[in-house]
Amino acid sequence: STVLGTAVMAQEYPTQPVTIVVPFAAGGPTDTVTRLVAAAMSEDLGQQVVVQNVGGAGGTLGAGQVAAAPNDGYTLLLHHIGMSTAPSLYASLPFDPLTDFATIGLVTEVPMTVVARKDFEPATLEDLVAYIKENGENITYANAGIGAASQLCGLLIMDALETKMTEVPYQGTGPAMTDLLGGQIDMMCDQTTNTTNQIQAGEIKAYAVTTPERIAVLPDLPTLSEGGLENFNLAIWHGLYAPAGTDPAIIERLTASLQKALADENVGNSFAELGTYPVAADQATPTALTEKLEGQIALWSEVIAAAGVAAQ
Ligand code: MLT
Repeated sequence: STVLGTAVMAQEYPTQPVTIVVPFAAGGPTDTVTRLVAAAMSEDLGQQVVVQNVGGAGGTLGAGQVAAAPNDGYTLLLHHIGMSTAPSLYASLPFDPLTDFATIGLVTEVPMTVVARKDFEPATLEDLVAYIKENGENITYANAGIGAASQLCGLLIMDALETKMTEVPYQGTGPAMTDLLGGQIDMMCDQTTNTTNQIQAGEIKAYAVTTPERIAVLPDLPTLSEGGLENFNLAIWHGLYAPAGTDPAIIERLTASLQKALADENVGNSFAELGTYPVAADQATPTALTEKLEGQIALWSEVIAAAGVAAQ
């Protein structure tokens, strides 16, 4: 269509519901963050913002689906750190994180927690470290597949402790949490947005946080560094993307809407209760997300190579 036609379309946008693809199962941490943001964006955009869960292959299935979707502003992706680790973990990815997407903005940063089924033997972080070293592959470790945050955390723990656990992949850590609560799986490392309520209710055991500092909602949890995993530092960042080639006027509209959603008091309070926080407005921008993505792709390719993990 004509330039004028495109401009008019962008001005009216959105005229129909907008879908945000979450590349993991419903009920998990990415889903939780996305639903809170989507509800606030929906109010601002005057259209329904629908969350669609496309789990599988550590988030790469859903991301690939959005990369191939029409770039009309009606199909978006909310994905996390996995966007930057996937290029180092997969020999052949069906998308390029840097060229197949238009960035809208960073969303949040979330600490992770090392958790286990309620009756798991180790009592403290110190016990856990010794237990993992001793029992290795006899321990089942839940993750959301190669490229998931939970998988990255496990990889870093196993590398630090020079051992392997038996990894059990799920479509997301929502269903993994169900199995942890049911006692069918021993351990996982997952974002506070999916573990805080269960930890506070005493339904699961918690040993540590993955950030360099302890966190306010779970102040009794030591850091992994305190447990001897030196300089352990993992926080999961999330970003909002559209397919590459989306009209810049639509991206601008979505960035403004994202910033408004992140400044929303309900969103802020809900995030805080789950141990996370929205990024500052100057981070909820295409430039900030692009810079983050580029920096993290470089960082994780080094770390993953140093850990001796080959792309599959
Ligand atoms: C999820 O939303 O299920 C998680 O973010 C999966 C993961 O990356 O661990």
